[in-house]
Amino acid sequence: MADNMTPEERAARVLAKSPEAQKKQEEKKKKQEEDPFYTEANPHSHVKHMIGIVSGKGGVGKSSVTAMLANYLVAEGFKVGILDADITGPSIPKMYGVHGPTTGTEDGAYPVEAENGVKIMSINLMLDSEEEPVVWRGPVIAGAVKQFWTDVMWGDIDYLLVDMPPGTGDVPLTVYQSLPINGIVIVTSPQDLVRMIVTKAVNMANMMHVPVLGIVENYSYLKCPDCGKEIKVFGESHIEEVAKDLQLAVLGKLPLNPEFAEKADAGRVFDMKSEDLQRAASVLKALK
Ligand SMILES: Nc1ncnc2c1ncn2[C@@H]1O[C@H](COP(=O)(O)OP(=O)(O)OP(=O)(O)O)[C@@H](O)[C@H]1O
Ligand SMILES: [Mg+2]
Ligand SMILES: [Zn+2]
Repeated sequence: MADNMTPEERAARVLAKSPEAQKKQEEKKKKQEEDPFYTEANPHSHVKHMIGIVSGKGGVGKSSVTAMLANYLVAEGFKVGILDADITGPSIPKMYGVHGPTTGTEDGAYPVEAENGVKIMSINLMLDSEEEPVVWRGPVIAGAVKQFWTDVMWGDIDYLLVDMPPGTGDVPLTVYQSLPINGIVIVTSPQDLVRMIVTKAVNMANMMHVPVLGIVENYSYLKCPDCGKEIKVFGESHIEEVAKDLQLAVLGKLPLNPEFAEKADAGRVFDMKSEDLQRAASVLKALK
């Protein structure tokens, strides 16, 4: 693949329907329809694009990137939702300062709207107490994620971002298999094992015929408040090499930003919009 491609061109190429890719997608669709667990959207949901935010490892900032990307898109006038698929470690409601219980009708539940208009559904909006731990087994957890699709009335959504739990377990498998996901963004941090961790996530997506739109690196550097120097807190990044080897686009590099952590803790993440995600947003906007 040519190296001078823009991320948008790369994404377009990943998504281009070569006859082979088209056949695979049709096979997948057929398989899904035959699957007894195939999950239909709620009739009150009209979602144009469903994008998963994943990582091979915990704590790299998936939920933060999900939120910042949602904020970016909503600020540009798109209708955006976040499906919090992290059932045992939900963090989206707290970041946005939204609380349950959700309301609904016999047709389903309504997502809760954050101050900037991002629609949110999360297990934490369903539980009686936000401190209640979810101690369910895998299949029950997977079932809850499917219910966020079948039983939630999302309304009109341009981009539904799915905040995944870390790793390559049950939930990503369920999302890839049972939901009409259009592509994923992989989030990672600068560290030695980045190649292995990212490769695992890419391989899983490939196995499930889900296009990888690109990689976002989080915690890339810290800007010194005094002189503006970029301090590589977690060492040198290898993201460009890894992305090149895996033929993926780098969609952004986010600094460690103390203000972000503060806003997230205060439930005011809707105040944060990172220009560093401009590329990621433009790749999503290029999706037809
Ligand atoms: N760029 C950043 N600057 C400052 N703090 C950040 C940044 N990204 C994430 N954080 C903070 O780091 C913590 C972990 O981030 P986050 O919850 O987004 O990670 P995650 O990958 O979703 O974790 P998990 O694997 O548990 O779901 C949070 O407290 C968040 O506020
Ligand atoms: Mg998370
Ligand atoms: Zn300095």
